[in-house]
Amino acid sequence: MDYAATGQQALARIADAGDLDSVEALRVEFLGKQGSISGLLKTLGAMSPDERQSEGPQIHGLREAVTAALTSRKEVLEGAALEARLAGESIDLSLPAPEAPRGSIHPVSQVMDELAEIFADLGFAVATGPEIEDDWHNFTALNMPESHPARAMHDTFYFPDKSDSTTAPGGTTNAPSGTYGHQMLLRTHTSPVQIRTMLEQGAPLRIIAPGRVYRSDSDATHTPMFHQIEGLVIDKHIHLGHLKWTLETFLKAFFERDDIVLRLRPSYFPFTEPSVEVDTGYSFEGGRRVVGGSGDDPGHSWMELLGSGMVNRHVLEAGGLDPDEWQGFAFGVGVDRLAMLKYGMNDLRAFFDGDVRWLAHYGFSALDVPTLSGGVGAGV
Ligand code: PHE
Repeated sequence: MDYAATGQQALARIADAGDLDSVEALRVEFLGKQGSISGLLKTLGAMSPDERQSEGPQIHGLREAVTAALTSRKEVLEGAALEARLAGESIDLSLPAPEAPRGSIHPVSQVMDELAEIFADLGFAVATGPEIEDDWHNFTALNMPESHPARAMHDTFYFPDKSDSTTAPGGTTNAPSGTYGHQMLLRTHTSPVQIRTMLEQGAPLRIIAPGRVYRSDSDATHTPMFHQIEGLVIDKHIHLGHLKWTLETFLKAFFERDDIVLRLRPSYFPFTEPSVEVDTGYSFEGGRRVVGGSGDDPGHSWMELLGSGMVNRHVLEAGGLDPDEWQGFAFGVGVDRLAMLKYGMNDLRAFFDGDVRWLAHYGFSALDVPTLSGGVGAGV
């Protein structure tokens, strides 16, 4: 028998097998119980020892060669089947993502985050206080006693006066401090947080207090609720130079330009002495105000940006601090106004309409987190 020819034929057919079923059929044909090569192996028993010695290795060799060929053909076909399946299941990552419902960050929240980022870098912590305030924290402690005319300027929303609120638990009347004995109101500015923080934390202090404030006022640039951010620094030997540097550094970082020029104008707030109104130079570009340059430059003007000053002695005292030991500066600025200036909106009322078209246009991606290295207004 020509084992070599039989082997070649078998190997050729195995190499031609186009799928795993054909490989299995060939395995049965050659090596199955009734298989041709199995049959050859059975003939060994009937052979003489001499014949067996010469035929045996050839038959075994044939079986090994066929077994190896079947195994490798099977591997090749299985590999190809896997490749085909993977190719069929692959995802093209370069395709645009499917349209998904998206929320966006309101410009006020974005700007508050930007401010917190900028001031955190200058070592300021964030402090908060209640929006429902008493008149002691909102006015009296800020050097505006009951008859003070400045109270009238604030267009305050008062809660109905409950005369029994002058009675503290235990029946004590005219309690000297705390909320008892005070008229409740919606805070008209973030300045009461100055008092609360001084009383709670003492000095030195470096805080910002962002939040909602309320005044009975409504037109294109005023809404009954708006946002302010208060800044307060208390330490020894603090002077107006520190205030000016802090505001300049903050505004350069916020507007992301170096040519911010400030003009400090004498002003009056009961809680600061001296008080300064801070103006910044701006020009009109493409119909909107763009902050930058000096207001005295050609094509530029000054605009009032914020109120500030050195903390009044009476305010330090109300905060439980010795004004001969501690000094400080404070400032208050409208967050909505900062947002309008930076992102070019012109009607404040749209901020609070909740119109999704406005939000889709002016809102920020939740992934555009303000960082000083990446740009506080990144993504715009
Ligand atoms: N509280 C003042 C306002 O609302 C702003 C201000 C804060 C001024 C701190 C000076 C110092 O108008």
